[in-house]
Amino acid sequence: MKNVKIAPSILSADFAKMGEEVESLERSGADVVHCDVMDGVFVNNITFGLKMVEDIRKRTSLPLDCHLMIVEPEKYVERFAKAGADIITVHYEACKENLAEVLKLIKSTGVKCGAVINPGTPVSAIKDVIPLCDMVLVMSVFPGFGGQKFIPSALDKLREIRATIDELGLPIDLEIDGGVNFENVSEIISAGANVIVAGSAVFNAEDRAEAIKRLKM
Ligand code: DX5
Ligand code: ZN
Repeated sequence: MKNVKIAPSILSADFAKMGEEVESLERSGADVVHCDVMDGVFVNNITFGLKMVEDIRKRTSLPLDCHLMIVEPEKYVERFAKAGADIITVHYEACKENLAEVLKLIKSTGVKCGAVINPGTPVSAIKDVIPLCDMVLVMSVFPGFGGQKFIPSALDKLREIRATIDELGLPIDLEIDGGVNFENVSEIISAGANVIVAGSAVFNAEDRAEAIKRLKM
């Protein structure tokens, strides 16, 4: 078994009892809590912001992986770090030529940083900044909603990025997000992902601990 981390996305949680939901994830063996922050501008949905991250921080010792699907993420980086994020990931599509700068800004706040690419963006868009990243996130759905179908072209991107990471010899994590299920997870891991985001696969399961265990196999 490879060293794979499961990062349940709280987008699929019951927002009216988020504290309990996060505690349940920790009890169920989750390795990371994936926090999907959406602003209704960068994506067509609105979730939550700083206060939610701050309050979740008090309920778990698991690392908080804040996936910012917002425009001008640089405006909020410092406040998400202060709210308790352990890693902040920002989209190439939101930062474009400023991506390297935004990644450095995240690092300067003392938290880990990551670059994200949407399904329509090639790996070449972020190739130069991979050495600056603690994690690279490949979207395998168009961001905005949980429960979508996995887009298979993400597998080639994983292979390409994994090869680059191996060449660099740096301890950079490779995360996949969107449409992961019990059927496709082994292919995703074989393609090089070691951090697996799963929203519906974990939250729709009757037994979350069992679901997390199955995703790791
Ligand atoms: C999509 C989010 C994902 C999503 C994953 O915009 O970034 O984290 O919630 O949910 P599933 O696993 O259901 O595709
Ligand atoms: Zn996400």
